[in-house]
Formats: sequence, C-alpha cells, structure tokens
Amino acid sequence: MTLHRLCQAALLTVLSIAPAFAQQPKPNPAAGKPWMNTSLSPDQRADLMIREMTLDEKIQLVHGIGWGVLRPGDPVPPTDNGGAGMVLGIPRLGLPDIQLADSAVGARGAARDSRYATLLPSVIGMASSFDPQAAHLYGQVIGRELRDQGYNMSIGGGVDLIREPRNGRNFEYASEDPLLSGIMVGHLAMGVQSQKVMGDIKHYVLNDQETGRNTLDAILNTRAMQETDLLAFNIAIHLADPAGVMCSYNRVNGDYACENDYTLNTVLKGQWGFKGFVLSDWEGTHSTVKAAINGLDMEQPGIRFFGEGLKKAVEAGQVPQSRLDDMVHRIVRSMFAVGVVDDLSMPRRVTDPFEGRDDARHIEQESIVLLKNKGDLPIQTNAIRKIVLIGAHADIGVLSGGGSAQVDAPGGNALDHKPGDSPWGHEIYFPSVPLKAMKALANPGTNVTFDPGSDPASAAAAAKDADLVLFFADQWMSEGMDRPTLSLPRNQNEVIAAVAAANPHTVVILETGGPVAMPWANQVSGILEAWFPGIGGAEAIADVLFGKVNPSGKLPVTFAESDSQLPHPRVTGLKATTQNNGMNGRGDQEKDFTVDYNVEGMAVGYKWFEEKHETPLFPFGFGLSYTTFTYSNLESTPSGDHTNVSFDITNTGSVAGDEIAEVYVTLPTSAGEPFKKLAGFKRVSLAAGATQHVDVALNPLVYSTYSVEDKSFHPSPTFTIEVGGSSASLPLHTEVR
Ligand code: BGC
Repeated sequence: MTLHRLCQAALLTVLSIAPAFAQQPKPNPAAGKPWMNTSLSPDQRADLMIREMTLDEKIQLVHGIGWGVLRPGDPVPPTDNGGAGMVLGIPRLGLPDIQLADSAVGARGAARDSRYATLLPSVIGMASSFDPQAAHLYGQVIGRELRDQGYNMSIGGGVDLIREPRNGRNFEYASEDPLLSGIMVGHLAMGVQSQKVMGDIKHYVLNDQETGRNTLDAILNTRAMQETDLLAFNIAIHLADPAGVMCSYNRVNGDYACENDYTLNTVLKGQWGFKGFVLSDWEGTHSTVKAAINGLDMEQPGIRFFGEGLKKAVEAGQVPQSRLDDMVHRIVRSMFAVGVVDDLSMPRRVTDPFEGRDDARHIEQESIVLLKNKGDLPIQTNAIRKIVLIGAHADIGVLSGGGSAQVDAPGGNALDHKPGDSPWGHEIYFPSVPLKAMKALANPGTNVTFDPGSDPASAAAAAKDADLVLFFADQWMSEGMDRPTLSLPRNQNEVIAAVAAANPHTVVILETGGPVAMPWANQVSGILEAWFPGIGGAEAIADVLFGKVNPSGKLPVTFAESDSQLPHPRVTGLKATTQNNGMNGRGDQEKDFTVDYNVEGMAVGYKWFEEKHETPLFPFGFGLSYTTFTYSNLESTPSGDHTNVSFDITNTGSVAGDEIAEVYVTLPTSAGEPFKKLAGFKRVSLAAGATQHVDVALNPLVYSTYSVEDKSFHPSPTFTIEVGGSSASLPLHTEVR
C-alpha cells in the first residue's frame, strides 16, 4: 500500500466511526455532580460539594499559591492568570481556580499580558459624585474587564475611613463619612459582582494610614468603632453581599486584624451575619490556630500558616474539622452565589478601551468639585484669545495613584514611553492630555500654550499676558507611604503664588489623592478638585472648565487650612526627619507603635471640626455649580423603622445642573455626640428654573447610638434634622420627637 492509500484508509476509518460518535449523548459535565444543580441554593450546593472533598483538597482552598507573578523568580502555576493572587481549584469536582486581581481603580498588571485596562478616576473622586449609579458603573467597568481577562475575583473595594488625610491610600478610599463610604463602595462592589466576578471589601479594619501599617496597633473604643469605621463596612457589606472581606495588616486594640476575634467573629460574622470569606492582606496572616479560630478563612498570598500547618492543626484537633469545613463552605458558597462556577471566567474578548474611557470620563464629570469661582468659569470662549496651561505635565497627561492600585498606562508612562507595566514606586502619567483637551474646546485661533511650572519667575512671565491661566497642581500618592504634610509637594505653592500675583485670572486644577492645604486660595480666581481623574480625565476637566458639563461634585472629605487643625497634627509614627515615610523596612519609620484614634473617637473629619469649633478651608459636602439652588418645604415623617425626609429644591439660576442634597442629623446633648452626622443624600438633575420634590429615607443607624452593654444600636427618640447643599450650609431644619 502506498503512503497515499494508507492515509486514505485511515481517513475512511475516521470518517466511518465519526457518525457513531455523533450519535452518542454529549458528555454531561454535571453528571455525578449534584452541586451543579442550579435550582439549589449556593449553601446547599457548597455542602454537597464539600462532602466529596478530601482533607488535602480542603486545605488547598484556604490558601494561595504564593507570591507568583508579584515576586520575580517565584513559582507560577501553569493556569495562573497573572493576577495578585490565585487559589487552585479542584478540576475533578468542577471547581475552577480563583484568579484574584488587584483592581481598586481598574485592573492591575494588564500590560504584562499585552492587555489593556481602563484607569478609572480615584475612588475618592467617584465618592464626590454622591451618585450610587456612578459607583455601580465604576464596579461594572472593573468586573467587565476582569472577566474579559479571565479573572473571577476583584480585590478592590477600599472602604477604610479617611481618618488620616495624609494617608497615601486615600485615593483608593471613599470618604471620611461612614454612610457615604458604605453606600458608594457597596454599590461599587455590587457593580463588580453584577459581572459575575467576586467582589471584595477591604482593608478590614482601621487600616487608616500606611506608616507602620504592618505592625501598628490602632486603638479605638468599641462604641466609636461601631459608629464610624465598622459602620462603613457594615453598610457596604449589607448592600453588596461581597464574596470576600480582606482583613488588614495592622492590629486593632491589641490583636492583628487577621486574627481578631472581636472584629471577625463577633462583629463581621456574628452581628452582621457575613456569609462570605475573610482573606488576609498579602502576608497579613500571623498564626495558624489563632487566626483560624478567630475568623480568618483564607491565607494570601501563600501557604505559611494555612498549608501543612493548618492540616496538622486540624488532625491534632487544635482547629476543629467543623471550622475548616466552615472556611471552605464560605469560599465555595460565594463562588456559587456570584456565578463563577456556572459561568467560567476565561480570557474571551479584547477589552474595549473606548467603552471604558467613556465610562471613566462620565464618572469623572460627576466627580470634579468646583471649590472657588470668582467668575472666570465657565470659560467664555469668545472673550478669550490666550490661555496658558502651567504645571503637572498637563502637556502630556494626567497623574495616577501608585501601589497595588496602579493600572498600567497604555503605551507606558506618558512621561517616559516604555511599553510594558507601570512599576510600583514611580509617578505614572496617563495619556489623557489637558493641553489637547483645552485646545479642542477653545475657539479656533485661540493661543493655547504650556509652561512646565517648575520655576516661579518663568511661570509668572508665561502667565502675565494671558486672558486665562489654568494651573495644574498635583500630589502623587501611593500605597506604602503617607504624605508628611497637607502641603502640595515640590515648590508648587510658591509657583502658584507667583503666577497668581502676575495674573489675577488664575484657576488652579488639583490632581491630588486627598485633601491639600492651599495657602494661595485667596489669591487665585478659581479652584477645581479633579482628584486622579482617570483615562478620560483631561476631557472631563475640559468639559467642566468650558461649561459643557456643569460641575456637581461635593467634597467627601474636609480640607483643613493646615495640619495643625487635624486631630493628629503629624502622621503618627512618622519620624520628624522623614520626608516621606517610604516602604516598610527602610528604617525610616517607627515600628510597633500605637495610633490613638480615641483622640478624635467618633469625631472623624467634619465632626472633629464642629466639635472643636474650627473652620476648615473647605467643608465636607461642599462644592459649587454654575447655577444656584434653593431648598424649601422640609417635612419629616416616621415610616416603620425609618424616618423619611422630604423637601423641594429649585434651580434658581439660568443653566441646568445637578445638585447633591445632604441631610444631617444631630442627636440630643445626652448622646455625647456634639456634631452633626450625614444621614442621607440624593443627587437630582434640575433644568433652569425647575423645582423638584425630593424624598430621602434616613438610615436609622445614623441617628442611633451604639450601646456597649447590650451590643446593639438604639435609635435616639429625638434629634434635629438639617438639609442643604453642604455640611456648612443647611438652610432647612426640623426637630424629630
Ligand atoms: C495591599 C492590598 C493588595 C495586596 C495584593 C497589599 O500590599 O495592601 O490592598 O490587594 O497587596 O497586591
């Protein structure tokens, strides 16, 4: 037989058996796997699967695979998707790997695999929108892109309160207020999970500064903790029902957060009934038996305590088998509940960068806060012939925040194009270019130029004969560091003062990770807080400056005049000689110190300022618009366990705009809380001249006090309600009895 004939014969044989294959029933992946029955509850499905697991398989699920791609040279399993963490699945049972991705403001590490990820505005910016829909969209973008890239768990969702305004991670967190933070980050996590990607809320709890974060002991009395930091987590967790809660590095009242019986067992799993799993921050696990008994369900990223050590502890009865089963149950039931078992995440399509950019731009449009406007905004294009942009590399891009929240800049850092990932520790600019965006909206023929703003005299000379100066000022922030002061870094204060002296039509646009002091605030004509604005940032800033979009954001954090107004005038543990605290282990920060949050206790942010009768530079909840609003007809009615508040808002100006209405409560003096508290808010869109009736249901937890004796919240029988457009401007009030 020739070779040709042999091949033909082989082909015929194949063809002849092919119909026989086709007639056989398709293999059913669910056969013999009763947990694949989607009509059962996630808990039932988890129980059925766990029954089939060996001890080794259970242990495999409660720890990660090690540092993997994060530490060059460390082993990486073949199925690893390239994220910050991975847990091996159990193929014989149909349980997929868990692929965890850092994604606080967009998916991290995308460039490593030649992928693209959308850089969203910072979380603090998103919170300035006071718009739960924007928060949901934010999470949706993250979830959508993670799923497209083969991940099934997001480890973003930072909800730590901004107790320390110089904390390097404030751009990853929402606000200083528990209600606002909880609602916004809760909606963010809902958005993530709407894409069938497991969500996470972090860093639980009191991880409110980076200095000494791995060893510091955060001290706070129980009532204050329940009414502030824990309340933010409580609200977010109840809204989103996230798969994971990441416990933090620090200690809380003596015990590490990842082995803290009170915060994990008593509060999170007991009082709040959290059904998901607690995963440790990366190397935030400190023991085997204590951590397992006190509530940690998964060690990340590795195996130091929850591998062989945990197996032995279970075999020796130091950790009951039922507790290991509970850990595994929490993980597996969350995977079923979110949908990552029934609908596997696989790299399946290329992320659409334009869809992501448009969403990022929309969120940023709602996030920008106009802090001052003496009439130069919105820019009257017909009256302007020359605009000078100064500073913050506004000719090439916008700034992003660093650390594990760093998203890779498309094409590399706009400052220094080198394709590939955007490394930790560098100030990374994204290619959304203010100079280009301003030119696009200015009248043709307008002279739009740029000066780097590094030298006060040359910047002032460049500004002198312009019709308008747009001064871009920035403050880079990152995980692993805190700012030593509220002051803008470099010589920016000096340059702004020189420019403002040379040209009264100077508008400052801030790209900061949190509040900053502004010694030049009285000298400039306008101030806009744009935060780290994301990949659609320059366009959104231009939209607001030119009046295509009416600014509507309100501050989610108080801007102090200076550090001396803060409860902690210096970042605790930051040595006097340290400029920036840098990373752990560099010897430039104290270790094992306590941070005494009882100094301010419940009076976080704006509450501290009210209690101490201090006037900040810009108050919480403040933000201007190109139109004006009035409030009237306040009524409050009890409704079940809630109180409903209703009032009218009228747009009294000549352009349409969005207003964020804020409702505050103040409890009687006997409650021992001498400050108002945000109890509800609503964002409304109003045409010029229009009036809208607004209803806001108040969250009873906010007008309650926590009793340490009976471990529960009690609504105050009387309280005052105030309504308006800023914590410092509340024209309506009524008493509730
Ligand atoms: C951060 C976490 C992050 C983890 C993984 C830690 O250093 O605190 O927020 O998710 O690293 O990258």
